Amino acid sequence: MADDSNSNKHRHVVAKVDELPPGERKIVKISGREIGVFNVHGEFYALRNVCPHKGGPLCKGRIRPLIVSAGGTDVAYEREDEILKCPWHQWEYDIKTGEALFGSNLRVRTYSVCQEDDDVVLYTDRRV
Ligand code: FES
Repeated sequence: MADDSNSNKHRHVVAKVDELPPGERKIVKISGREIGVFNVHGEFYALRNVCPHKGGPLCKGRIRPLIVSAGGTDVAYEREDEILKCPWHQWEYDIKTGEALFGSNLRVRTYSVCQEDDDVVLYTDRRV
């Protein structure tokens, strides 16, 4: 459903919903900028395909769970398919927010994206 906060933005149909099942991504080019569109458990998210660390193609990285440990050697996996790992130096980002996992204020640019009927629609400001 379209969001009223997108009414002054540029609308881009970037995929059919069927093309982008949960756990998948599609990288699109809008105004010369690459943006990764992700389906995480049926909700859509979009991130700029530029890692804030050193400019790597972040959206081409592996999609992973969050690995947690209370100490010792036991680990657990949470938030399946919500973490994106940059292919250059393995920094990890939350696909839903664009924030780096290690707690700095570093984040990748995010965009508003949603399902409208059978389309996945991304909204950008004039400045992409
Ligand atoms: S460029 Fe992405 S982690 Fe270094």
